[in-house]
Parts: sequence; C-alpha cells; structure tokens
Amino acid sequence: MDKIMLHFLAFILVSLTSSSEVSVENILSQHNICTEPFKKKFSGEVLAFLTPWNSKGYDYALKYSAKIDYISPCWYQLNVYTVYGYKLEYDLLGEGNKTFIEASKDLFKILPRIILENTNTDDYKKLLESDEDQVNLSEKIKNFIISKGFAGVMLEMWTQGNGILRNADQKEYLRSFQVRLIQKICRTMKANNLMCMITVPAPRPNYRVEFSMGEFLKLSKFVDRFALVSYDYSQISPGPNSPENWIKSCYKELVDQIDLSDYDEEAAESMHLKYMKQLMLGVPFYGYEFSPLDKPNQYTRHSTRAITGNDFLQLLEKNKMRVEWESAHNEHKFSYKIGKNEIIAYFPTKEMIESRVKLAEKLKTGISIWELGQGFEYFFEAL
Ligand SMILES: *[C@@H]1O[C@H](CO)[C@@H](O)[C@H](O)[C@H]1NC(C)=O
Ligand SMILES: *[C@@H]1O[C@H](CO)[C@@H](O)[C@H](O)[C@H]1NC(C)=O
Repeated sequence: MDKIMLHFLAFILVSLTSSSEVSVENILSQHNICTEPFKKKFSGEVLAFLTPWNSKGYDYALKYSAKIDYISPCWYQLNVYTVYGYKLEYDLLGEGNKTFIEASKDLFKILPRIILENTNTDDYKKLLESDEDQVNLSEKIKNFIISKGFAGVMLEMWTQGNGILRNADQKEYLRSFQVRLIQKICRTMKANNLMCMITVPAPRPNYRVEFSMGEFLKLSKFVDRFALVSYDYSQISPGPNSPENWIKSCYKELVDQIDLSDYDEEAAESMHLKYMKQLMLGVPFYGYEFSPLDKPNQYTRHSTRAITGNDFLQLLEKNKMRVEWESAHNEHKFSYKIGKNEIIAYFPTKEMIESRVKLAEKLKTGISIWELGQGFEYFFEAL
C-alpha cells in the first residue's frame, strides 16, 4: 500500500473513532449559536472570570446570566510595600465597570478578583509575620468590597505568594503563614456575610507541590470556594490544555486522600461532597498553538502561543485543518502543515466543554471558567 493510501486510511480511522462529528465547517458555522440561552443544564455552580481586555465577556455574562452563578471580573490588584522605611502599606488598585455592575444587579453575584502583584519578598514576609498588618489588610479588603456592593472577593494570591517566597529562607514555614493570612482575610469576610474565594493551582504529577491536601483542608473551613486552575497543562510541547485524566487526578490528590475514618459512613459522604463542591473545576475557554522552531533549543522544539476564539477562527479560515478527538484527554486536536512543518493547536470545542460539564456533574463539583471573553457562544450550550 502506498503512503498516501495509508494516510487516507489513518484519517478514516481517526474520523470513525472520534466521539463526535466535529468538523471545521461545523465550528465555523455554529460557534456563535446557543439555542437555549435561558436554561441552565448543569446542576452545580458556575463561576466565570472575565477580563476588561477581552470585553466581549461583559456581554456574554449578561446574555447568558441564567447559566452563571458567580462572575469574577479581573479589575483589582493588591500591592504591598514599605513606607517610611518600616511601615507596611497595602493598596487596592484598579477600576470596575459601573455600567456592568448596574446591568448585572440580581443576575449573578459579583466577586471581583484581587491579584497580589508588585510585592517583594521582604514586604510579603513582613505581612506574613505581622498579625496586626493582617488584621488591617483584612479590614481594608472587607471595607472595599462592602463599599462597592459586591457579594465577596476572589483572592488570587496563593500562586503569586509561592512565587514571591520561592527564594526566601524558610519558605515552607512561611507558606504555613500564607495559609493563616488567607484564613484571616476570609474569616473577616465571612463575619460580614461576604463570600471568600481563592484561586489555587491544580497539583501536577512529578512537579513540586504548589498546593497540598493539608493546605486545602486548613483553608476549607474559611474559604467558600476554590477555583482550581486546571488548565495550561501543556505549554512547552504540543498537548492538551486541560486533559481529563489530569483533572481526575487533582481531585484524587486533594480530596480523595482526606482521612475521613473518624466519621460514620453518612457523615463521611457528606464531608466528601462538601469538599467536592468547594473545589470548582477549571474549564478553559481558550487554547494554544504550537509551531516548530526553526532552531530548536535544549528546552523546547516549539514556540507556544495562547489563542482566543478570534485567533482560532482565523486559523480555521486560513488553513486546511485536520481535526481529531483525543479520547485519552477528551480534547480536540487541530493540525495543519506549512511546508514540512506541522502546526498543532488545541482549542476547546462544544464537545470538549460538554465532557467537562459531564465530569463536573459526576464528581459533583462546580465549574470555574477562564475566561468568558475568549470563548465561543456555543460553549454556553453545554452549561
Ligand atoms: C462595561 O460593560 C459593558 C456591559 O455592561 C460593556 O458593554 C462595555 O464594553 C464595558 N466597558 C469597558 C470599558 O470595557
Ligand atoms: C493598623 O490600623 C490601625 C488603625 O488604623 C493603626 O493605628 C495601626 O498603626 C495599623 N497597624 C499597622 C501595623 O500598620
């Protein structure tokens, strides 16, 4: 059999084994269609991030509000720094979108993201070691959230804090202080009937532990929901963005290992359920494109580019794209050739989102979407 024939047969096999009839034409014609915008199908909670730099997210949030419980707009940052050579100062910077806040009254809860930025190791250490500063910072965040009329806060500081502490002495010790800092902020929020959520990294096999079961347990009494950052899996070489097996292993790592042997069966089951509900499964609304480098180096053979829905549409329109469903990951892989070079892209499809929703349904977790403005409207069909 000649080579072309073999390729052809392989192509047919891939098409036959694909779990769905996804084709490029299908995506091009369906991507902006959601036939049931007012009906929520997923029985768990849906949280969606949105960013001002992909402002379509505002419109999608309002249009598909029936499917969304919480919106976390990325508007604010927290900077910690020293003034007068000794006193810690903490600033909350950034601006919200008043039109959006007005328009979304009663549609969903808004918990703006506050991300820790521009903070050096010494100042962060000082904060971690000073109870008084932590109390003051907690008050500041609480008062800020109340003054704006938000339902609560999404703290994005765990991974950032780990990064700031990476080269510090006693970083393990300081990490336990980071747990206390978040506990303190969240306790202040909850005492004022505000919700407190944080983003957490998804544990990766064979990587250093960025977030452990022990830390999850210590935080779970104070933090209402954890937005699990279960995407960005493949960044150096071509691969899925959020492979399903990995997501399953994250839940095993964080929840299934918790020792519930002190509880009777019923109580243990309800504890387990409570933990699962607290961890919201991260679902990407964006993808990656991997192009071979002219000069591969010791670290990588590809250049990697994050792509939005618009970028992806352009790729589909301009290139002869091959689509396959990778059942090992439950993701669609797209590829095309320029000369000898094979360019590979992973971008979510409705089928991929559906399979994540199904998984979340089965695990009884919530869903957390990063982020609305980058995705296609037909993704909402699955929610
Ligand atoms: C503010 O939100 C509205 C939707 O309520 C949106 O149409 C508008 O583009 C947003 N403004 C900015 C500056 O992003
Ligand atoms: C905390 O806030 C109080 C009241 O504003 C202030 O007097 C005190 O100096 C602050 N503590 C620190 C460590 O900045």
